[in-house]
Amino acid sequence: MSSESFENLSYEDRTFLPSQTFIDNANAKSDIYKEADTDRLAFWEKQANRLHWNQKWNQVVDWQLPFAKWFIGGKLNASYNCLDRHVIEGRGDRVAFYFEGEPGDTQTITYADLLSKVCKAANALKELGIKQGDRVAIYMPMIPEAAIAMLACARLGAMHSVVFGGFSADSLLSRIQDADASLVITADGGFRKGAPFALKPAVDEALKGETNVKNVLVVKRTGQETKFDTSKDIWWHELVDKQSGKHECEFFDSENGLFILYTSGTTAKPKGVYHTTGGYLTQAAFTHHAVFDLKTEKDIYWCTADIGWITGHSYVVYGPLINGATQLIYEGTPDTPSKGRLFELIEKYKVSILYTAPTLIRTWMKWGDEYPNKSNLSSLRLLGSVGEPINPEAWMWYREVIGKNNCPIVDTWWQTETGAIMISPLPGVTATKPGSAMKALPGISAEVVDDEGKAVGNGRGGYLVLTKPWPSMMRGVWNEPIRYKETYWSRFEGVYFAGDGAKLDKDGAIWLLGRVDDVMNVSGHRISTTEVESALVSHDVIAEAAVVGAKDEMTGQGIVAFVILRGGIESATGDALVKELRDHVAKQIGPIAKPRQIMVVAELPKTRSGKIMRRLLRDVAENRVVGDSTTLADPNVMKLISEGLKTGKSED
Ligand code: PRX
Repeated sequence: MSSESFENLSYEDRTFLPSQTFIDNANAKSDIYKEADTDRLAFWEKQANRLHWNQKWNQVVDWQLPFAKWFIGGKLNASYNCLDRHVIEGRGDRVAFYFEGEPGDTQTITYADLLSKVCKAANALKELGIKQGDRVAIYMPMIPEAAIAMLACARLGAMHSVVFGGFSADSLLSRIQDADASLVITADGGFRKGAPFALKPAVDEALKGETNVKNVLVVKRTGQETKFDTSKDIWWHELVDKQSGKHECEFFDSENGLFILYTSGTTAKPKGVYHTTGGYLTQAAFTHHAVFDLKTEKDIYWCTADIGWITGHSYVVYGPLINGATQLIYEGTPDTPSKGRLFELIEKYKVSILYTAPTLIRTWMKWGDEYPNKSNLSSLRLLGSVGEPINPEAWMWYREVIGKNNCPIVDTWWQTETGAIMISPLPGVTATKPGSAMKALPGISAEVVDDEGKAVGNGRGGYLVLTKPWPSMMRGVWNEPIRYKETYWSRFEGVYFAGDGAKLDKDGAIWLLGRVDDVMNVSGHRISTTEVESALVSHDVIAEAAVVGAKDEMTGQGIVAFVILRGGIESATGDALVKELRDHVAKQIGPIAKPRQIMVVAELPKTRSGKIMRRLLRDVAENRVVGDSTTLADPNVMKLISEGLKTGKSED
């Protein structure tokens, strides 16, 4: 067994400094790290002052491990911070959202419009009996009403629980039950891949289960035929539109619940990650300002995440709106009506800041450069990535083909549980390395530790932990305090274990190595799937790769790789290609990491938020019946993979 918790196999020495102009104009300058180190709590107090507080806090933090409270005694309203403040301070005419529906319909919503729409919705919710502390389930397509519904809940001090519109009726029901929601806000449907899809029937199906839901508020988006039960269903336009556009908001305690967001755990039951108000908003606003370098007067900001994920909460709704951003939201899929859709939108709206996920970046690589090259992307000045490790090759492609070598890239590491970005370059400070999230943000303490919880030195791999409480940390797992402690605070004494492997390179930059559950053990070496995947994708013909460890009599586990070829490359290159790829991996990171088997596939199994489901690939690699695949974005993909393998399997 190796003495390290993870092998540190690959090495990257390219670095990219921001341009001098970017450095000179950056929101966050290099002295910010020192400022935060000198007095961490004073630093966070300063960031909390980005918000409007109706009453100031009297204590910064109360830390009873693992339970934190921030800005105690302070009172504020999340919706006021996102909306009223801008209107009162004369920014009501600024565009908050440019909305583009998949069919091409558009809306332009100013801050004044958004305030009025949220007030109407809040008045409607009040009429339905929603009050502080209640839970409201939101099950919507990516349309402005989704954000409006969230902000209306927040305005009343009620908590939203957004359930991604791609989840099934069963998933929706279990989330409604766990949070004990009393209202569901949904739509008849939305547009995806060129056609309307229905949402309301899934709500009807879910509500056949036992719940305390009294009403279902339904936005008419597609106009499709929708079954209505008038004893509880209400059309949004009938109830909301007639309300007053004014609503005096109350100010709530800093620790008032803002939302619950469910995330899958190792057991079947999803975890209700619970966030409160003051600390969460502070860190969402600060990170959005510092990491995305937002210039409110000039930038058009676009985060492509759906509102059903934490990224949509922190970086479509709360962070950007608090900072007065003008942003684009888009309802549909990236390949409708063409694979160039998102690039056309960048050109049309002159998007300057783009925040997306490696899964989309690799998909774009797979489709080929001709799509981005058809649009004028020169408005872009900063690019962001989140959700998975971004392999150096995809990072370089993002930089060159999308950013035209002109945009700093911020690879941001964080989780639903952390609420906001924790590890990321600062775009006007950091000399970035392709594939590294670089270092903890000011005010955040991250370490990489070994099996015993001791910090590993530079050049070593281990487990990523967070050693000090931070403002936007989850306050618990809804209704399950013991699960909260056990899941996050029991692996290493006194620190939060994120579940991710990471390594420090020789300069101390942090490289994320994926979930530790995905680590492979080959002849006693613990090898991260991320490193082997990155090596594969660094070969010209590979667009995407997923690697798993499969049982192996000789070595404990053998490395099995599933690869997707880049656009325009024929898969018929067969055995020669497989040999070349194996040699390539050996050359990049060493013979120990050479895949035992490489399979060329057309698609990879992914969750709806784009994460590869390695568990299912392990089943294939070990010739087992494929396990529970209900969380797959595309239910057919495993069938396609298994069928493809009958012909495409290659081994040497
Ligand atoms: O494994 C890490 C990966 O995504 C996990 C968190 O997933 P979720 O709660 O869905 O939130 C995603 C959006 C914040 C992490 O434990 N992850 C997220 N960002 C990165 C990442 N892995 C590597 N690099 C990242 N930048």
